[in-house]
Amino acid sequence: MLPFESRIDEALQLRKEQGLLRTLNPVAGGNTEQIITDDKAFVNFSSNDYLGLASDESIKSVWKLAIDDYGVGSAASPMVTGHSLAHQALQQSLCQWLGYEQAVLFNSGFSANQAALFTLLEKNDTLLQDKLNHASLMEAGMLSPAKMQRFPHNNTDKLRTLLEKNGSSLVVTEGVFSMDGDTAPLDDIATLCQQHNSWLMVDDAHGIGVLGAQGRGSCHALGVKPNILVVTFGKAVGVQGAAILCDAQTGEYLYQYARHFVYSTAMPAAQAVAIDHSIQLIQTQAWRHTALANLQNSYTEYLGHLPGYIATSTPIKPYLVGSSNRAMHLAQYLREQGFWTTAIRPPTVPQGSARIRITLSAKHQPHQIKGLAEVIERFEKQYPNEDSL
Ligand SMILES: Cc1ncc(COP(=O)(O)O)c(C=O)c1O
Repeated sequence: MLPFESRIDEALQLRKEQGLLRTLNPVAGGNTEQIITDDKAFVNFSSNDYLGLASDESIKSVWKLAIDDYGVGSAASPMVTGHSLAHQALQQSLCQWLGYEQAVLFNSGFSANQAALFTLLEKNDTLLQDKLNHASLMEAGMLSPAKMQRFPHNNTDKLRTLLEKNGSSLVVTEGVFSMDGDTAPLDDIATLCQQHNSWLMVDDAHGIGVLGAQGRGSCHALGVKPNILVVTFGKAVGVQGAAILCDAQTGEYLYQYARHFVYSTAMPAAQAVAIDHSIQLIQTQAWRHTALANLQNSYTEYLGHLPGYIATSTPIKPYLVGSSNRAMHLAQYLREQGFWTTAIRPPTVPQGSARIRITLSAKHQPHQIKGLAEVIERFEKQYPNEDSL
């Protein structure tokens, strides 16, 4: 076997032995609150479509009409000819909505995060990251020339110590943590940054659209304005893509130096129109936030007494199971009863904290959450621990 072949073979074998092999499931019918796969329907408690916008009829028709105006692809990177009036309008909407001078658009949150860290950080810089930050941030931090240190999750005492030791730094946290559904103490972190001449960057992939007045996100909810705010459009906004919000000078710097921006085909203009429309709906359709808040109350009502229940103030509801094996069993058990959830296992989460990641969408109905709770309760009675599986 050639070196690459044996390396691939060994890596796959290891994942299999650890029971950590991931599988790719094609779903039909759109990724809405109901998904269809293998001709079976499931209640979908797995998507990040928190506001139920991914299949919204008005966004669909706006997108289709925009294709008539702009075509299907942008055909070039932004600095060549890929940037259109639709992109410009989206930038203006974002700046107005979130209170920034500039919004630099990207095709994904992954590339926006990487662009921000790779472009900003140099050799003698210090990067301080929450230990549970997303893989895109961790990877960029590790590969950047800066010194990276991680602080324990949401631990502001430890962050203070690191800032005292290192001085001026770039501090990066998420607004809402994707696997735990908890929120960062952004107000305290922002104060620490000010005290230590440091910049704050917040990845609000899971807070934008959901938290704060008119869905302005985690930072707005706590009256914080980070130097760099990353928002993504593939979760509550229901589409795809991302933006870095910053001041005009930093935006200009990103235009000149962010390789993920300069050397990548721009998002299609029609998609920018769809995102812009979705952002208008988020600001005007308060019923989506009310529905989500009511569903969160139903979740607590129906699952609050179960052993793996964890209270969160966001639509991300981790249900702690323990071992990877038991989490896989619970996901399978739920699937057999018509509920689609995803088992989240190490290395995505720490050893021993495998979980079912349950996410709520404004389109769910309370009886669906009740049904989910009943199945989990049956599982807990039948298989209370690893030995009973
Ligand atoms: C916290 C966080 N940041 C960034 C990303 C990446 O965003 P995207 O899916 O747009 O690449 C994700 C997606 O899972 C995420 O959870």
